[in-house]
Amino acid sequence: MSLADERLPVAKPVPPQTSSSRLSAVWLGIRSPHDGDQDVARAVRNVFPRQPAAARINREHHLLITHALAQRGMTQILDLGCGYPANGQYGSADPLLSQNTHEVVQRHWRAASVTYVDNDPDVVNARRTEIAATASQTQTRTRLADITDMADLLDQVERSGAVTRDRPVAVLAHDVFPWIPDDDVICSCVASLREWLPPGSALSVTHATADMTPTWIQRLTGVYAEAGLSFRPRGRGFTTDLFGDWEDLYGGPVRVIPTARHQLGHHESKAPDFHSAGYAGVAIKPST
Ligand SMILES: C[S@@+](CC[C@H](N)C(=O)[O-])C[C@H]1O[C@@H](n2cnc3c(N)ncnc32)[C@H](O)[C@@H]1O
Repeated sequence: MSLADERLPVAKPVPPQTSSSRLSAVWLGIRSPHDGDQDVARAVRNVFPRQPAAARINREHHLLITHALAQRGMTQILDLGCGYPANGQYGSADPLLSQNTHEVVQRHWRAASVTYVDNDPDVVNARRTEIAATASQTQTRTRLADITDMADLLDQVERSGAVTRDRPVAVLAHDVFPWIPDDDVICSCVASLREWLPPGSALSVTHATADMTPTWIQRLTGVYAEAGLSFRPRGRGFTTDLFGDWEDLYGGPVRVIPTARHQLGHHESKAPDFHSAGYAGVAIKPST
């Protein structure tokens, strides 16, 4: 795929069945739901009323950690499983959440390169349309790719010039792994990512968990399964292991903690842990 292709909308009809990307956009109030989304969204709220709030906690963390990484000088960002843009056609219910990764990073570094990646063609279409309509986004690209084929993805982003390995890269993998059913596949694609990234690079992960509210999350998993969606919450150990021998962003062993507590500035940082329904961790690749 050429560079130009990374910026062109892909023409694909929107399938009737809901998806993790569409539901996420419904929780954040950034897209008008399709018919297929409404029933699933209602069923989810019935078994886990806190789901929209948990999605907002995750999104606020995404923005805060992107800001923190930009402040540390990260000028190359890979946003894996990026989801729909926040301020597209429908705007956002919450001004705080009406920001996209590239807007946060490029506020610090105008020439920072941001590559969005998603395997949902409609998400890629919406991202490319949004980017084409806003300012001179020459450094912002969107790639249609499955992150489970990590070697191919990394090869493509390097060959296209979106990312160079002569300086650190920040990789954001927020609420994407729960939608990939196979533990071994995730571990092996993250291992190849860790190996490929240059020293000083960052890996930020958020992951849904049932650790705090097992019964609710079990019911939630059942609702998703009935809707044809594979959703796999995982324990703290799984997320911790994804960082291998890397160090925490703030030094020492990697802290994997309820998402709202990770960044002090988070509006929900004092909320009970079960509100997050997920863990966050951020690590840096050591230089040796
Ligand atoms: C719940 S949304 C999360 C969106 C955003 N990262 C956030 O934290 O708000 C999950 C996104 O991951 C994407 N996704 C799921 N599996 C993927 C895969 N194997 N490769 C690339 N993207 C994937 C979905 O299409 C969806 O847009």
